[in-house]
Amino acid sequence: MAIKLSNRVRLIKPSPTLTLSAKAKEMKDSGIDVINFGVGEPDFNTPEYIKAAAHKALDANFTRYTANAGIIELRQAICAKLQRENNLSYQPKEILVSPGAKASIVNVLVAVCDSKDQVLMPSPYWVSYPYQTLLADAEPVYIPTTMEESYKISASALETAILANPCAKALILNSPSNPTGAVYALEELQAIAEICIKHNILVISDEIYERLVYDGVKHISIASLSPEMKERTVVINGVSKAYAMTGWRLGYAAGPAHVIAAAGRVQEHATSCVNSITQKACVTALNEEDESIEKMRIEFSTRRDFLYAELTKIPHLKCFKPQGAFYIMPAINWYLKHNSLGIDCADKFCAVLLEKYHVALVAGGSFGLEGTVRFSYANSIENIQEGVRRFADFLAELAASE
Ligand SMILES: Cc1ncc(COP(=O)(O)O)c(C=O)c1O
Repeated sequence: MAIKLSNRVRLIKPSPTLTLSAKAKEMKDSGIDVINFGVGEPDFNTPEYIKAAAHKALDANFTRYTANAGIIELRQAICAKLQRENNLSYQPKEILVSPGAKASIVNVLVAVCDSKDQVLMPSPYWVSYPYQTLLADAEPVYIPTTMEESYKISASALETAILANPCAKALILNSPSNPTGAVYALEELQAIAEICIKHNILVISDEIYERLVYDGVKHISIASLSPEMKERTVVINGVSKAYAMTGWRLGYAAGPAHVIAAAGRVQEHATSCVNSITQKACVTALNEEDESIEKMRIEFSTRRDFLYAELTKIPHLKCFKPQGAFYIMPAINWYLKHNSLGIDCADKFCAVLLEKYHVALVAGGSFGLEGTVRFSYANSIENIQEGVRRFADFLAELAASE
């Protein structure tokens, strides 16, 4: 008889973005010209100054276990970064370095949640938040947002959700957001902070896309608004997106010392320290940043403008203009209702688009918003142009079939 899996793990579904990327890669490897808008990682190489630091660490045989929470010079570099860029003052004991921001979030959730606790999250949400919450034995609770609200929760929607869910313990806030690209403004964060303080809600503030903001928009960390808010916030960040270092695996959490120490104990028994070479490379990434980082941001900004302009030329497509991250999430509801090919949900839409037009998009249901699809513009302008052309052809085919 097969071994029965735990009830907890049976709730965990594969990551749709990773599944899609694997399928697109398989098609590509078999010679098919797939344009993959599914990927959630920069298509740039890690900047040279960071790679040089890794070579140096390897040559110096910096290859052993390090302190579980991360080497002190890295935690100091993170403290300096948080002070310099976010106006936040932390000590190294308030920092936990983990193998990716994903791991940071899981460590924190496991450290603060008991079973029956509820974790609030605006919807659409990043695909992993609900499963990370379930892994911590807690319950995800969604606060729906609409395109008309710029995909952002208001303070009153948050308070309504807290009052309706008496076991609400934490809120996961992701600004700039994956998948919508929405960025919270100062006044919006102030109003949310007021509610969190009033109801003693912990904010897990995922700021992994903070450097990728456009049109002069400024990223603000909710922790920086007041000492009362800082006490109730764990800031999550990392190097994957801003420094094109997804494969190096390094993220961090900054927050109250007792929460960070508890999250550190979780990590100690689960994964232990981050790869020693990666840690050294990240000290340099943060302390000696060169112009390559800003160049990547500018390139993303150009691509966003291009993709948004192309998508808004397509009739009946509703499109929110993102202010950050590298995603655009247009609504395709009109086409789902106006075709005779049986394409009535975004999942079917994406499956046929990939099979027939060789374009990989992620269906919005994975992010909690049916009737939408997510484009990642971590892709060249040429690919974006060709991919949107195929996407528009498919939409035209659907409309013509009615
Ligand atoms: C919103 C969000 N948070 C966290 C992560 C995880 O980043 P890391 O590579 O540091 O684990 C991602 C990666 O896709 C993300 O989109």
